[in-house]
Amino acid sequence: MTAANPVTTAREDGILVARIANPPVNALSAAVRAGLLAAAREAAADASVKALVLAAEGRTFIAGADITEFGKPPVPPSLPEVIDALEALDKPVVAAINGAALGGGLEVALGCHARIAAPGAKLGLPEVKLGILPGAGGTQRLPRLIGAAAAARLASEGEPVDAAKAAQLGIVDAVAEGDLLAAAKAKALALVGTAPRRASALTDKLTPATREEFEQAAAAIAKKAGDNPSVAAILDCVRLTFDTPFAQGMAAEREAFKRLVADDRSKAMRHLFFAERESSRIPGQPKGTTARPVAKAAVIGAGTMGGGIAMCFANAGIPVTVIETSEEGLQRGLERVGQTYDISVKRGSLKPEERERRMGRITGKVGLEAAADADIVIEAAFEEMGVKKDIFGTLDRVAKPGAVLATNTSYLNVDEIAAATSRPGDVLGMHFFSPANVMKLLEVVRAEKTSPDALATAVEIGRKLAKVPVTVGVCFGFVGNRMLSKRTAEVERLLLEGASPSDIDAALAAFGFRMGACAMGDLAGLDIGWRIRKATGKKAPVADALCEAGRLGQKTGAGYYRYEKGDRTPHPDPAVTAIIEKLAAERGITRRAIPQQELIERLVFPMINEGARILEEGVAYRPGDIDVIWLYGYNWPAQNGGPMFYAGLAGLPHIVERLDRFAEQTGDESLRPAALLRRLAAEGRSFADLKESDVAALSAGA
Ligand code: CAA
Repeated sequence: MTAANPVTTAREDGILVARIANPPVNALSAAVRAGLLAAAREAAADASVKALVLAAEGRTFIAGADITEFGKPPVPPSLPEVIDALEALDKPVVAAINGAALGGGLEVALGCHARIAAPGAKLGLPEVKLGILPGAGGTQRLPRLIGAAAAARLASEGEPVDAAKAAQLGIVDAVAEGDLLAAAKAKALALVGTAPRRASALTDKLTPATREEFEQAAAAIAKKAGDNPSVAAILDCVRLTFDTPFAQGMAAEREAFKRLVADDRSKAMRHLFFAERESSRIPGQPKGTTARPVAKAAVIGAGTMGGGIAMCFANAGIPVTVIETSEEGLQRGLERVGQTYDISVKRGSLKPEERERRMGRITGKVGLEAAADADIVIEAAFEEMGVKKDIFGTLDRVAKPGAVLATNTSYLNVDEIAAATSRPGDVLGMHFFSPANVMKLLEVVRAEKTSPDALATAVEIGRKLAKVPVTVGVCFGFVGNRMLSKRTAEVERLLLEGASPSDIDAALAAFGFRMGACAMGDLAGLDIGWRIRKATGKKAPVADALCEAGRLGQKTGAGYYRYEKGDRTPHPDPAVTAIIEKLAAERGITRRAIPQQELIERLVFPMINEGARILEEGVAYRPGDIDVIWLYGYNWPAQNGGPMFYAGLAGLPHIVERLDRFAEQTGDESLRPAALLRRLAAEGRSFADLKESDVAALSAGA
């Protein structure tokens, strides 16, 4: 199959079967669109053809528009034009949906007169995740087919449904248990001679009652989505189906699509889509490197982190042994895991029998010897080098040959931990984010001697655990926490200079973060940082004073904020203001009101600066990797694409100018712009222009 001809046609049983083959995911490139239009014309022109069936090769049906074409001049035929031509045929047109039918892919199927899906197919309108809306009739045909409320939910959530659910909703006519193509052909032949069922012309779902149902659903969707222009546009377009002719609705959808796709918000979200996929590629792996098989895992430590990691394995169907130093600690940890599952059961997101299956995969043991039969061991013990070295020394003795030995340390030097064993090639970091069973990020830390296949194993296991594994190098705090520490330092300064915890959190919320730095600190526990500072001799006057006052965060009912019993809502606390004012007075600082924009820049720009240093050192392989880390590890707002992408939006020269100013204002020379940042700004470039090879050249000192 040549790329120029990705749609081939064949006459089978009086049916024209058009097969799409545009690997890897049959995206709707210009050539595919042209091929589909040609197939529609061929079916129309040939009197011997009774029906048209659209089928696809490979594991997907059609994954949607070709996202790489966005932002480039449009090449005809347009997708709406192609879909209109399919729908307008007077002969039956049936889609045989073998795999994912997403975005434009589902819209093509909606232009057909019937749809048959394979049991494993997934159908959805994920455009909202790219900052756009369905742009080829999704907001106009789907409501007419399945009802406006259900269509609005599907398009605004962006999550696909499986074939069974799609059949239940009425998106597909049937799920084929056997041969999909045969079922689609049979359906097509059965429809010959009947009036085509065109979704664009259906009216039975557009009633005053469904309108009321839609308005209720829309109110709930809008409330949940907040300030999301994609969702607003989806709701507006779906609403049009009730009182606007199809063609006019299509025109409105097109206008909204054009407006959204040109916006920075969508550019940022598309950047993250590709950055996430690129981040899974590990540079420098010898050809043919394969992951080691993993049938059994062990997790050392039954604390919050260890328990969460064990749940990840159990959820993925991999048996896991949780190891503790005492029976008591073990029981406490296992109980907590059980309780976490119970919450999911109560919420209805986990079936009781599945809870039992998952718990059944977790075994508790005392003593490191229990790690002997594990193919991968993840240590999540106390964050102290001595403790880690002891554990790895013992693991070296008891773990089976070829087992991958990973540490979940969030700061410590993995090379040093590896040196406590006689097999440093098997040792690496697997840094999960709290809560480990929820957060999608996994920083895979490649130590100096980590072997290629151990690294490949960690990345593959990460994916099996439904994480986004990003490989990084060794440094204090790796990528995520190292950048976070820059923000934390600014929080300290800003509090002393005059901001309140609520001011700081409001600034981060205005920037798009779901949770501010102070509320986050209270949730995680302020003692974590306190312990690390004590071990490293660092100081954070405000946070230290809060901890010394017993204010460790939510768990003690007080931290940066005050909490009512049994409630997680942060309340500003005059006691905190008093602590801060006293510290400021002791330091001779005159507190002032700090404008929100200044707060945002003070909190975000130093992080970007640290990201630049991380790239200079080669600790991250690509700017996009840093963005993915912040998206999935710290809930960075997707609409501005991650810190390094955002730098381009804010303007590198502006960031350089501000950082120089901050350095002068605070006397902290470490706030001066990194050489890379200065250079890119001077050259009128941004981080997004840096390729992996550019970053590699930087760290090689070139
Ligand atoms: N356009 C261009 N490239 C795409 C693509 C698309 N729509 N979807 C996937 N790809 C590329 C990926 O970038 C990746 O490329 P590399 O191998 O070079 O990294 C490759 O296809 C394989 O993708 P995945 O690694 O994601 O493969 P997977 O098996 O894990 O997932 C998938 C397959 C579920 C289809 C997933 O790729 C996906 O969700 N794709 C995007 C779907 C989407 O958002 N569609 C809507 C597009 S917008 C639209 O259609 C607008 C409209 O209304 C006209």
